[in-house]
This record gives sequence, C-alpha cells and structure tokens, in this order.
Amino acid sequence: MLQAINQLTSKLNFDTLRAEFPALASDFIYLDNAGGSQVLRRVGDRVRDYLLGNSVQLGASYRYSQEAGAKVLAARHAVAELINAAHDDEVVMGSATTALMFQITQSILPSIRPGDEIILTNTDHEANIGAWTRLQAAGAVVRFWHVNPQTLELDLADLDVLLSPKVKWVAMTHASNVLGTINPVHVVAERVHRVGARLCVDAVAYAPHRLVDVQASGADLYVFSFYKVFGPHYAVLWGRRELLLGLSSLNHFFISGATIPYKLQPGNVNYELSYGCIGIVDYLLDVGAQLGATGTARHKMQVAFDAFEVHENALAEQLLTYLRSKKNVRIIGLPDTTSGRRVPTISFMVDGTMSETVVLHTDRFGIGIRFGDFYAKRLIEALGLNVWGGVVRVSIAHYNTRAEIDHLIRHLDEVIG
Ligand SMILES: Cc1ncc(COP(=O)(O)O)c(C=O)c1O
Repeated sequence: MLQAINQLTSKLNFDTLRAEFPALASDFIYLDNAGGSQVLRRVGDRVRDYLLGNSVQLGASYRYSQEAGAKVLAARHAVAELINAAHDDEVVMGSATTALMFQITQSILPSIRPGDEIILTNTDHEANIGAWTRLQAAGAVVRFWHVNPQTLELDLADLDVLLSPKVKWVAMTHASNVLGTINPVHVVAERVHRVGARLCVDAVAYAPHRLVDVQASGADLYVFSFYKVFGPHYAVLWGRRELLLGLSSLNHFFISGATIPYKLQPGNVNYELSYGCIGIVDYLLDVGAQLGATGTARHKMQVAFDAFEVHENALAEQLLTYLRSKKNVRIIGLPDTTSGRRVPTISFMVDGTMSETVVLHTDRFGIGIRFGDFYAKRLIEALGLNVWGGVVRVSIAHYNTRAEIDHLIRHLDEVIG
C-alpha cells in the first residue's frame, strides 16, 4: 500500500502543480500555510467570472438570476462532495470559522438549560472555545479537557472523567494548529455519543492535509476555512441534518425552521466566494486524474491527498530531523511523522531565545514563517511558552519543496547554532 502511494507521489509533477498558484512564481518561500495557504488561480478566476458575469440577485425568474442561482447551488454541491456530506443542505457557508462558531452557538443557545455541561479543550484555537463559553449566560457549565503537559496529548482517560449525562456538547480540534497532532475524533465521537452529547470539530488545521470526511469523523458539527485550503477567505460548517433542523433560526421570522441551511445563513452566502470554491475541488480532481485515479470524485480527491500526505511527511521529516539534532531545540508536538498522526505544522522553541528573534532572522532571507500563540493562547500559556513570545511555527503545504526546506534549515542554523 505504502509503496503504491510512494509511486503515486513520484508521479506528481510539482512544476505543473506549483504553476496553479500564481503567488508561487516569486522566489519567496511560503511556510506560513497554517496561517493562510496560497490561492489557486482557478479559484481567483471563478470569483472574478462570477462577479463580472453573474452580479444579480438570486431567486428571480429571469434567466440571469436562474443561472447565478444554479452556480451557487453547484458550489454547495461541490463543497458537499469535498467533505462527504450526505446532503447538500447540511452545508452552511459563512465568512470565517470564528464567525460560523459564533453563529452556530447562538443558534444552540435556546436549547441550553442551567447545569448543562460543555467540554472544551485547552489545545484549541480560540474560535472553538470562546463562542461556547458564551453559553454560560444560559447557565451552561464549561469544563476543560486539558492537554497532558508531558506528552502534549489529549488523554482519552481524562475525557472519560469529564463525560456524564449532564454533558451536552464537546468541542475539539481535529488537528492542533500549534502541535500539528491529529486527534482521533471518531473515537471521541463514540464516547461523546454514549452519554447522549454531541461533538463539534474544528478542522481548520486538518483540512489542508487530509481529505475531509464528515461522516467518518463521527462529529455532529464540523467546520473549517477555505483560505487554509487554497481558496478564499470563506468557511464551511457542516451539521447533521436532524441536528440543523432542530436548531433555532438566525434568520427572519418568515424563514421557516425547516429551511436549512438558509435559516443559519443570515443575509445569505457570499455568491462569488462560494463559486470560487468549486476551483478547489476541480484542482483536487485534476491532481487525482494526473496520478492515474479513475472512478468517483471522492476517490480521485483521496488519491490526490494521499500523494500530498507522502510528500508533506517527507518535508516535515526533513525539518524535524534537523530540529531533533539540535540540543537547544524543543519540538512542541510529535517529534516525527512515523505515527501518521501529525500534519506538517511544526512548532519549536530555541532554549533561552525569544521566538521572535528566530523569525526576525529568517525574515531577512525571503522566508515566511512566524511566531506567537496563533490564538491557541490557552495551550501556549498552559505550557508556559508565552514568556518566550510563543513558539516558532513552520507550516508546510503540499506545494513546498525540499529545496525550500533546505534554505530554511540553512538560515535557521545561523540563529540556532
Ligand atoms: C485551528 C484553527 N481554528 C480556527 C481558526 C480561525 O479561522 P477563521 O480565521 O476562519 O475564523 C484558525 C485560524 O488560524 C485555526 O488555525
């Protein structure tokens, strides 16, 4: 199996693939992909085409309105396929993951009773924490599932202690945007469902690196942003149909509660950005086809992501091998890729050095990495890393190259010593 995947990766034509991203034509080295990935030309083209060719209001009987409406529906269908939603109307689109989280928790609010418990993790980006804590206004009790500071893992045994029939929601990240660790959300989902609670998963740091499958994840809500997945500043929230139908509406009184996803999209979606997202799916299908995949769209996209994973792991291992060789470096996350449980988002500390110092040095050589808490403030504080200005984070995407990582290592070494 692994051999087959390796063969596939060697068939990837990186020149063709990089040419899909106009920004990669410069010699700047983008290694801040977990902050925001580069955008596909086909996404930009679609946004422009829609804006210049379809700027009409939807829902009218005239031809152009009908055509525009069909494009927006096609976009929702493409996203449903990308995430493996069983129904297109389970796909809620919005401006950002943070905004969608505030929207969905607002819609959950009326169902909260005093004493209902909500479990959050201290490894998450604040987007999947802060919105939930607002439910305390309705009497919800928030409890934290804390990271094990030694292993940097979320231990399932710690979750088991927190789970009880009082728990209504658990919110966690599929992959940490600091540690890079992939969490076993389907295992968590089973435990959460056993006590009658629901699971909300933030997949922002996961979706650029693995093919999302909302059904296999076991989650009840699943959310991520397209600007991390080669698309525009835009986001999707998927929810199980029965769940969405039961939520209160965020829209006008005359929009029926059965009108999903519209009741959860006040003011409607952004048409041009929705249409742009079709470009992401097109790209993945083409990469899959380039690798010889035939059959269903999901299969082609899976083959593309399998190849990305092998390539990304090789680049991550290249950097991790260097970092492991340095006595004064502490990797904040899994130290290697062998378990298959990490995405190529790599954080580290250099002993006695402010993280800013490392990044300001590499800035001088046309390299884009960064330092900080990345809004996973509670994690950085729990690990006592805030006094060092947070971690240095290098985040790799499938379009990065060995030569780019070599260049980074050369200049990191000047400051790490
Ligand atoms: C893991 C994670 N969750 C949520 C977010 C917030 O996404 P958005 O900017 O779309 O609100 C980010 C952004 O960096 C993130 O990395």
